[in-house]
Amino acid sequence: MVNTQVNLSGLKLSNPVIPASGTFGFGYEFADIYDINILGSIALKGTTREPRFGNPTPRIAECTSGLINSVGLQNPGIDSVINAELPKLKNVFKKPVVANISGFSTDEYVYCCEKIDSQDQVGIIEVNISCPNVHGGGMSFGTSPESAAEITKRIKEVTAKPVYIKLSPNVTDIVSIAKACEYAGADGISMINTLMGMRIDLKTKKPVIANKSGGFSGPAIFPVALSMVYKVYEAVKIPIIGMGGVSSAEDVVEMMLAGASAVEVGAANLVDPYACKNIINNLPEVMEKYNINSLEDIIGAAHI
Ligand code: FUM
Repeated sequence: MVNTQVNLSGLKLSNPVIPASGTFGFGYEFADIYDINILGSIALKGTTREPRFGNPTPRIAECTSGLINSVGLQNPGIDSVINAELPKLKNVFKKPVVANISGFSTDEYVYCCEKIDSQDQVGIIEVNISCPNVHGGGMSFGTSPESAAEITKRIKEVTAKPVYIKLSPNVTDIVSIAKACEYAGADGISMINTLMGMRIDLKTKKPVIANKSGGFSGPAIFPVALSMVYKVYEAVKIPIIGMGGVSSAEDVVEMMLAGASAVEVGAANLVDPYACKNIINNLPEVMEKYNINSLEDIIGAAHI
């Protein structure tokens, strides 16, 4: 029998498959369609200090092998996440979760991380400094090693939970940003967020998305994500949660060979709500096919 267990900063996950933030709500919404306790963990919808309605619609544009979103960090705000969403999740999911935090100032990130630190079910804090869909926040904190390090340092001062910094691929040198986060005390790296993209409607001759452009995700970006995870793995010692177009058990194995210790599945959930379940079910068979006894043994094995 194969071993699908992985370890993320001391958290033992029964398997490496985690629905990515923003593609799986607060998790409990999926409990009616299957037993979500088969998941390794769940990355919760990104949370800011205040409730946010998000960007104007249309927010989604379909593409070959992917989609563009410009949701704009719609969420009910940190207090509601703590008082309403997490209790609902706790009723149906019995494992530690990944809380995803966003913001428009360093103080806002710090405030939200300090608040979420009080929640027992939160096993990891994923700090999103890579959302491409808002002005004056999100990605603007993640495009230079200096600002990424500063926010990491400030957050580490207010929480004892493992802090994973979620990085953007829309930068010149993701490796230097990952290294700066590690140096500033990050416990792990989550990567990659979406690539900037746009579509234009041939009938209206205008951008499909109201915000003009958005974040491109889905199978088309998998090779980009894989190559970035591979490079960052060689530069840092902290664990990486790999993501970007993962949609099969084979993709999970490939991502781990590149250096990921666990894997988030994003756009695939929007195409098929059973995507994570199917990946988890297929994982043992794929491992057997490629003579893999334990997933932990293959992390970074593609490096020579
Ligand atoms: O627009 C959004 O809410 C997307 C967030 C992200 O990609 O981090």
